[in-house]
Amino acid sequence: MADKFYITTPLYYVNASPHIGHSYTCIAADTLARHMRHVIGEKNVWFLTGTDEHGQKIQKAADAQGLSPLVFADNTVGQFKKLWEVLNISYNDFIRTTEDRHKRVVARVLDILYKKGDIYQDTYQGWYCTPCETFWIESQLSEGKCPDCKRPVEKISETNYFFKLSKYQDWLVEHIKNNPDFIKPASRYEEVSRFLELNKLSDLCISRPRERLGWGIPLPFSPEHVTYVWFDALINYISAVGDFNDEGKYISRWWPADIQLMGKDILRQHAVYWPIMLRALDIAPPKLIFAHGWWMMGESKMSKSLGNVVSPIEMAHKYGTDPYRYFLLRDVPFGLDGNFSEESIIKRYNSDLANDLGNLVFRTLTMIEKYFSGNVPVMQDQHLSAQGKLIKEKLLNIEQMVISSLNVCGFSQALEEVWSLINMANKYVEDTKPWNLAKENKTEELKTFIALLAKVIRQVGKTSACFMPKTAEAIFGQIGEATINKSGPLFPRIDTK
Ligand code: MSP
Repeated sequence: MADKFYITTPLYYVNASPHIGHSYTCIAADTLARHMRHVIGEKNVWFLTGTDEHGQKIQKAADAQGLSPLVFADNTVGQFKKLWEVLNISYNDFIRTTEDRHKRVVARVLDILYKKGDIYQDTYQGWYCTPCETFWIESQLSEGKCPDCKRPVEKISETNYFFKLSKYQDWLVEHIKNNPDFIKPASRYEEVSRFLELNKLSDLCISRPRERLGWGIPLPFSPEHVTYVWFDALINYISAVGDFNDEGKYISRWWPADIQLMGKDILRQHAVYWPIMLRALDIAPPKLIFAHGWWMMGESKMSKSLGNVVSPIEMAHKYGTDPYRYFLLRDVPFGLDGNFSEESIIKRYNSDLANDLGNLVFRTLTMIEKYFSGNVPVMQDQHLSAQGKLIKEKLLNIEQMVISSLNVCGFSQALEEVWSLINMANKYVEDTKPWNLAKENKTEELKTFIALLAKVIRQVGKTSACFMPKTAEAIFGQIGEATINKSGPLFPRIDTK
């Protein structure tokens, strides 16, 4: 078992408000972080998230509002932090790429790589679209015009700095080959392997001339240039948790990351650029890169540019934080795309939460109140029915099953396991007909039957706590080891008529 666990989410761009896609990566990361805190202890887990604040996208969005990029970014950072509070995201650190601690490490990385000869200068020609303030290479033009706005472009020559990605391609291919668990799910591993097999990597342009983009980290060896935003942003994963010593060796309590989560759209940057950057710095690669799928609206990816985004705060307010978290992780296996709709949230809410879990808790509490004046009876194995024995067995195994599923980011699978226990317990109530046991004065059987249900519920609370932290608290608040404290149903049904 690992002795420490470092998990990261991508840094979200601050040019737009958070939507459901952004909340997905953080909810998944939060669930794993909570789970691992339970397994290896609070102080051994580090969960990092934050915001990506430099570059043209942000500069333009700030200009459009007549704000300085930093004031503009402060505003969106506030929205992200508010959202993470509402969604109960228990991050240990929130890094902003505009912070000094980050900028200092980026400058150090650039300096080390430049001195080592892995960053070099080159001048090349291309086409510039002045209204879009974008530089295009010949092959990107559309009929000789700007591919975005279709206006004429101007030929310019630019001097920039390049990072030698190509030098490390063979190393990366080898690393991926020797580490079949480096990229997950398997389909993404294949995708990256194939890409590296079919393409010779070009070196990466890691600078932008300051005259056309001012909003970035200056290159220490050429203050007339700022750092390309991806090169800057990826470094957050190490700048947040360590630093270089005088000899240029990186020292960190947390690195290498145990898992780096992201959406499949930014897999290339994480699975190709990032490990190579680390290799050039003589730093170990992350242990696992996991690319999840997209939340779609019909046929399209939910995204700000398509204008089809749904607000996660609104969903959490409408359906509750835990049902929202539950829905995202239960409805679609992690790694695949999912279709978002409020109807599917309501369906999951009413069937899994109100009917299955809520009902089990409510009916058990009602029986404890009715038959045993609110005291949880003690279980005696000799009074267990055959069905009861099966449930007890499942109860003993469930934690291990959830751990095994979460070890491979199988969120929906873990929840299916927990729900199969809930469903077994509900069926146990229907088959046993406890009112008959009471009528026939079979008190010992009734005690053991109810005691087992209480244990099931507490175990469900324990194993689902990382998914639905508030619900687990509510469960433990209502069913103690010895007494109960019954309140209203956990999940009142949503009326759809
Ligand atoms: N700033 C970069 C990441 C830099 S990491 C050093 C970025 N930011 S982003 O805000 O555009 O996206 C952040 C995350 O949200 C990515 O993991 C992305 O895949 C995820 N999502 C954005 N839209 C999404 C969906 N519609 N569905 C699921 N996740 C998607 O990229």
